[in-house]
Amino acid sequence: MRFFITGTAGFIGFHLARRLLAEGHEVFGLDGMTPYYDPKLKEARNAILRESPHYHFEQAMLEEGDRVVGYAKAALPDVICHFAAQAGVRYSLENPRSYVNSNLIGTFNILEAARETVPGHLILASTSSVYGGNSEMPFRETHAADHPLTLYAATKKSTEAMAHSYAHLWKLPTTMLRFFTVYGPWGRPDMALFKFVDGIMKGRPIDIFGQGRMSRDFTYIDDLIEAIVRLVPCIPREGQGAGEHDSLSPVAPFRTVNIGGGQPVPLLDFVDAIERALGMPAERNMLPMQKGDVTDTYAAADLLRALTGYVPETPVVRGVAEFVAWYRDYHGNQ
Ligand SMILES: NC(=O)c1ccc[n+]([C@@H]2O[C@H](COP(=O)([O-])OP(=O)(O)OC[C@H]3O[C@@H](n4cnc5c(N)ncnc54)[C@H](O)[C@@H]3O)[C@@H](O)[C@H]2O)c1
Repeated sequence: MRFFITGTAGFIGFHLARRLLAEGHEVFGLDGMTPYYDPKLKEARNAILRESPHYHFEQAMLEEGDRVVGYAKAALPDVICHFAAQAGVRYSLENPRSYVNSNLIGTFNILEAARETVPGHLILASTSSVYGGNSEMPFRETHAADHPLTLYAATKKSTEAMAHSYAHLWKLPTTMLRFFTVYGPWGRPDMALFKFVDGIMKGRPIDIFGQGRMSRDFTYIDDLIEAIVRLVPCIPREGQGAGEHDSLSPVAPFRTVNIGGGQPVPLLDFVDAIERALGMPAERNMLPMQKGDVTDTYAAADLLRALTGYVPETPVVRGVAEFVAWYRDYHGNQ
């Protein structure tokens, strides 16, 4: 099959592209190589993908509408996976405009590309952050998600609404994936795991917010990719729901799906797992809650299970050890 994937130099897009290439698919990647974090890491991921003759790459910004649509038309994909975005909850307080540009304008251009090329399935990355101020746990796709706490969450929720309208108007089968704190090898330097490992190895204290009284439904990257690959053939069709927890729209071939294992882990247990994997203690700098952070995330995994027969299951102890092994290797066995 032919896949058009945005964000292939990013953490998740890279892993998905690598898996699909290994399975013999054709991948058309696009990434703007933004400087939000070290572009060398993005180049290194992309260099691995470039080893495959079935990988085609265009460096472009999502905001360049004509280029994005032109590239998509040349690719004529069976499936579009839109994962490029300005990610990160905390940075949206510092640089909100980059979220409007990448996430709103950028996603609009991808929707236009989908309208022009009519793929069999349009898959877009959303986030658990859209559940924002919800207190009912676990977070279910059928719950209202109307109280975003950051502009990041607000832009992602907006892309869900934008994609729904395109799914309705142009009969584009669309699945919005809500990811829950994804971690693993080749992970993002702005996320807690990378920062904690980096800090501990360099003998620096690590900042633990909310006095550590937080929990996350951490999702190991290979599990996330397995779930996405299984969702590719689960094409939303109007009137063909998958049971009581399905979020399928009544007026469009559109659904949202959580990808999370439904097993939240206390933040301090996560730090313990890191210390164990490194064989080094952390100097813990306990701090109050950060503006915009949510205390807990907890995915209802029933819909993912109903659609794919699969839910993420890698325990954090194993996933963190895999990350540490990669980190050491990438940084030259420090
Ligand atoms: N990693 C997680 O835990 C997580 C959780 C929830 C949602 N998500 C979502 O999953 C998707 C992938 O996240 P990731 O962790 O791989 O992030 P990432 O930052 O590693 O990857 C995103 C990629 O998009 C590219 N990009 C950003 N803005 C762009 C623009 N305007 N034009 C072109 N390229 C641009 C970046 O260069 C980067 O390579 C994002 O949509 C993110 O919001 C991730």
